[in-house]
Parts: sequence; structure tokens; C-alpha cells
Amino acid sequence: MADVVVKQLQVGGGGGIVIDDDWPGYSLDLFSYPAHYSGDLDCVVVPHGVIMDRTERLARNIMDDLGDHDIVVLCVLKGGYQFCVDLVDKIKALSRNSNRTLPMRVHFIRLKSYLNDQSTEDLHIVGAEDLSFLAGKNVLIVEAIVGTGKTMKALLKHVESFSPKLIKVAGLLVKRVPHNSTCLPDYVGFEIPDRFVVGYALDYNEYFRDLNHICVISESGKTKYKI
Ligand code: HPA
Ligand code: MG
Repeated sequence: MADVVVKQLQVGGGGGIVIDDDWPGYSLDLFSYPAHYSGDLDCVVVPHGVIMDRTERLARNIMDDLGDHDIVVLCVLKGGYQFCVDLVDKIKALSRNSNRTLPMRVHFIRLKSYLNDQSTEDLHIVGAEDLSFLAGKNVLIVEAIVGTGKTMKALLKHVESFSPKLIKVAGLLVKRVPHNSTCLPDYVGFEIPDRFVVGYALDYNEYFRDLNHICVISESGKTKYKI
């Protein structure tokens, strides 16, 4: 099953920009990053500028598909905040520069399922609020990273229970993990190897959200911030 998913991802543009397992990443010396993280990172996987350029294209794809209806953006916190801000900004810029107008509401939902670099079994929706305002609406879920797809599946089930008209998912990163379910985002930024990444609001025990690039954390970084 996993093989099939990986192949589908690699043939179509829909799976996002594919970053191969054997690609070593960019040396950290080629970019600037906060000095307090020196020694904590192995390499840069996706530089900030590339994230922004890819996000601009995803915004266009989203406009092409959903641009005629107002949408409710559902930002998955905390990791999704930066991607959501930038994606919404790009969508706003596109609608300003075209004759289309796309009324958007932005809401937030907070999930927690990771401790250190391990997924915990249960998905917590922190402060689960009533999402009944989603009934009959076009919903765009904005998520930073999709791994096994378990979190996404549980979230979709939760959102579906409020009877929206349509649900689309934008995921900046999809990780090629061994047991990836077929639950993939409709809009994917990058497909990445199965390594723990941080930066651009993705954290390791709440650290590294203040790093602009998406990087691989080093073993010593993991040890330093372990709880
Ligand atoms: N980094 C940060 N958070 C995550 C990751 C990751 O690689 N995978 C799932 N949540
Ligand atoms: Mg996290």
C-alpha cells in the first residue's frame, strides 16, 4: 500500500516537490539561521524562500479550485500557523490582483500528538470548540505536516461531523513514512524523507519555531531539548 502511495506522489505534480531520500540537504553554512541553534541542526531541507515560492503556487491552485465561493480556513495549530499566514497572504494578493474576490474566514484548531520526535497514540484536540458554523461551508484545512495520516484522518472525521459542504486540505509537507495511509492532502508543498524536521513553525518540544528554514534536527539537538 505504501509503495502505491509513493508512486502516485512521484508521478503527479499534485504530490508536491519531491525531495529524495538520498538528497543530503543544503549545508547550514550557506544560509543564516539563529545562532542559538548552532550544532542543533544537520542540514536545511527547504530554504525559506523556496517555501514562499511554492506557497504562492499552492495559493493559485486553491484560487483556481475554490475561488468562486467564500471559504473557511481552518488553521491547525501550532505547527500550521506560519504556513497558514503565508498561504492566506498569497491568496489575498491573488484575489486583489484579479477580478475575483474570495471572502475568507480564518479559524484555528489546536492539535497535539507529538512528544519528543515520537507520535503519541492519541490525538488531542486542545480546547475542542464547537465548529457548527462549518455547516454548509467550503472548508480549507491548513496543516504543516502530514506523516502517517492518522492525525489528518481523525481531524477530517471531526470536521466532517459538522457537515461542511466541501473539505479540502493543504499540507505544506508530506512525509514518506512506511505506513502512510491514503489520506493525503489535496494541495501538497513538498514530499520529504522520513526524518524529523523543524523550523517554519514546526517544533521539537516547542523549540525551533523561530527558525525560518525547514531543517533536519541533529542528534545532539534532540538530546539538548529532550523532555
Ligand atoms: N517535525 C515536527 N513536527 C512533526 C513532524 C516533524 O517532522 N512530524 C509530525 N509532526
Ligand atoms: Mg509539534
